[in-house]
This record gives sequence, C-alpha cells and structure tokens, in this order.
Amino acid sequence: MTHLIDIIAGARPNFMKIAPLIRALEINAGPESDMHLPWRLVHTGQHYDTAMSGAFFRQLGIREPHVNLEAGSGTQAEQTAAIMVRYEQLLRNHPASLCLVAGDVTSTMACAITAQKMGVAVGHIEAGIRSGDWTMPEEINRLVTDAITNWFFTTSRQAGSNLTASGIPEKRIHFVGNTMIDTLRHHQREFLPPQFFSEMGLGKGEYFVLTLHRPANVDDPNHLSALLRAIDANARNLPVIFPVHPRTAKILSSLPKLPPSIHPVTAQPYLEFNFLVSNARCVITDSGGITEETTVLSVPCMTLRENTERPETVSMGTNELVGTDPAALAPWFDRLFAGKWKVGAIPELWDGKAAERIVMALKHIFSERIKQATPRGQARR
Ligand code: UD1
Repeated sequence: MTHLIDIIAGARPNFMKIAPLIRALEINAGPESDMHLPWRLVHTGQHYDTAMSGAFFRQLGIREPHVNLEAGSGTQAEQTAAIMVRYEQLLRNHPASLCLVAGDVTSTMACAITAQKMGVAVGHIEAGIRSGDWTMPEEINRLVTDAITNWFFTTSRQAGSNLTASGIPEKRIHFVGNTMIDTLRHHQREFLPPQFFSEMGLGKGEYFVLTLHRPANVDDPNHLSALLRAIDANARNLPVIFPVHPRTAKILSSLPKLPPSIHPVTAQPYLEFNFLVSNARCVITDSGGITEETTVLSVPCMTLRENTERPETVSMGTNELVGTDPAALAPWFDRLFAGKWKVGAIPELWDGKAAERIVMALKHIFSERIKQATPRGQARR
C-alpha cells in the first residue's frame, strides 16, 4: 500500500503553514524512521507573483513544487473550477492516498472537494476555526472543507469544540498546535530589515504596520480612503508602513491622494515583513494569520474586522477587534498611546512543534489503515 500524500499549497498564507510540515516529513524520511511517508508538493498557482509566492518558497526553504497546476487568478468560481479540473487530472494520472490541505483559501476547498470525490482521503491543517461570517469567502471555504475532511488538525481547543458540535467524532480530531507559529519560531532569528527601513529612519516602536486586502475593506475606494484618513488622523504623526497586496494595489492606484503618514510599499517577503511586525508600535490589519503572529511576538494588534475565526488572539493574545467603522478607531489609538494596551499570553501548543505532531498523527492514521486493509492473521510486523 502506498501512502503518497499530496501537500497542497496555493496562496501566500499556505506557504508558512506547509513549510514546517515538509521539514518534518523530510526528517521522518531518514533511516531511523519506522514508517516512511512519501509526499508530493502541489502548487495550485492561485498566487503566482514572486512577491506573493516565489519569495516565500525561497526564504522558507520550500523545495520546488513537484507539480504546478498554474490555475491563476479569476472570480471565486473561475478559480475554484480551474483548480478542480487541473487537480482532478493530476489525481487521475498520478493517484495519491491522502490530500493534505491547509487554511481557508480557495485552493484548500477546491482540492479537498476534488480529492474526496476521487476517493482520496482529506486532511485539513487549521481545521475547525469559524468566524460565523458567510460574507467572507474564507468562511465558506472552511465550512465546505471541514464538511468533507477525514482528519482534522486543529490549532485550538475551540476549533475542536466547533467540530464536535457539528457532529465530528473526537477520534478524527488531532489538536496539534499551529504550523504558522512553527514557521515564525523557526525563522525568528533571521528576520531582516527591508532596505527602506534605514532609508526612512524607522526605529523600534516608531511606526505602524498596516495590511488590508479583504474585499469588505478595499473594494470600495470611498471606504478604503476613509479608513486610511482615519488611521492617519489617529497615528500621532508616526509613519504607517503599508505593504500592499496586489488586490489592494489596483484600488489604491485609483485614489487621488494618500494621507501624509500612509507609506505604501510593495508586498514584503516573509523575513522582511515579520521584521517590520516585530518592531512596530502596533499592527493594523484585516488578516487573520497576522493576528496569530502578533500574539506570539507580543505586538499590539488592531483588527479592522467585526469578527474573527481566531478568538484566542483576542481572549489571550494582543489582538483587539476594532471593527471597520473609520469613526470608531480613535479610542483604540488613545489606549495604545496611553500605554494601556493589554499584555498577551501564548495559546496552548503554539510552541513550534505542530508539524511534528501532524507527522506523528499521520503515521498513526496510516498504520490504522494498514491494519484495516490486512486480512486477519497476516498483520504486518
Ligand atoms: C487570498 C485568500 C485570502 C488570503 C490572501 C493572502 C482566498 C479566498 N483568499 O486572497 O484568504 O488572506 O490570499 O494573500 O483564497 N494577484 C496578483 N498576483 C498574485 C496573486 C493574486 O496580482 O500572485 C491579484 C489578482 O489579480 C487577483 C487578486 O490579486 O485578482 C486577488 O487574488 P486571489 O488569489 O483571488 O485572492 P486574495 O485576495 O489574494
């Protein structure tokens, strides 16, 4: 019986989540291993720019994908369909026995559906988290993926509870911790200042980092403009460094003029981005993953959303949900500048060893399968 595992990577936030898993699988491939787990890295091509993909592979030491489906951009349906058609073709020609998807991007859902319909079991890294907000494509992706996942790898006890509440038996849920934090801890000593850091005279605690890419925040130029003006008005003249996602760049270029403290820069590679985050006075973002990183780095974080699928970043970490109303931002900045931002703690099992736990769980899963597939009396030694 082969155990070929497809590891799916499609969009930027996937790359940090799969890098430590690949490292753990490579270690497991050594001579000491009691069970080899062969794997194949499949890049769907959802993100394809150097800034959104290539730079992350290089900095995180991820090998060239074995396969690139080159699905590219499109509407949600176009992208989903392109990934499904191409992944189905791959599975038909070169079957796998487990499809491991991560997070909540379109590639995650598209490959999970394709695999399950081809009779290939699905494992989901970062399963079970829920914002309850069906206006976000990521929430739909989470719900659909978890509805057809066989093995759930979770980052929190809350995620496990969400799954059991939806009828998933506990034995299919593995609380392993957070692979994104594995990556953060692994590379923390290599964080690099971007070139503009000294050119702009930036110093620790003397600037904000801003990221915005959710359709609700960036697709309407008037709303984006109002948010930027409110941030500028509250930033007490500190520069706001704004690494711009390609989606946001398109809309930003249509705005007549940016407020003076807003400094757009190109989307940053991993090491530069996290250097900026770890030295910032505060991060302002509509991302989910970044709120996990600021929690572990103990950097204050304001989330420009009304909800989060990562409640532990608020209940334990440094994150606050400040909402999307530009007029409601001022009190949060007052609190920050008064030195009254909460001091966070690190959630359980966010210790840099999540990927190792996933590999252990995979071995257990495959050994159970071998037992079930082996006729009585012929149990393998
Ligand atoms: C996707 C994820 C989101 C994640 C974000 C991080 C989904 C539903 N959303 O959103 O959860 O937080 O990635 O980056 O999967 N583009 C480029 N170059 C690229 C990739 C995209 O220019 O390499 C442009 C395309 O024109 C595209 C737009 O960015 O139309 C949006 O890309 P898409 O992959 O559809 O979604 P993201 O907004 O990146």
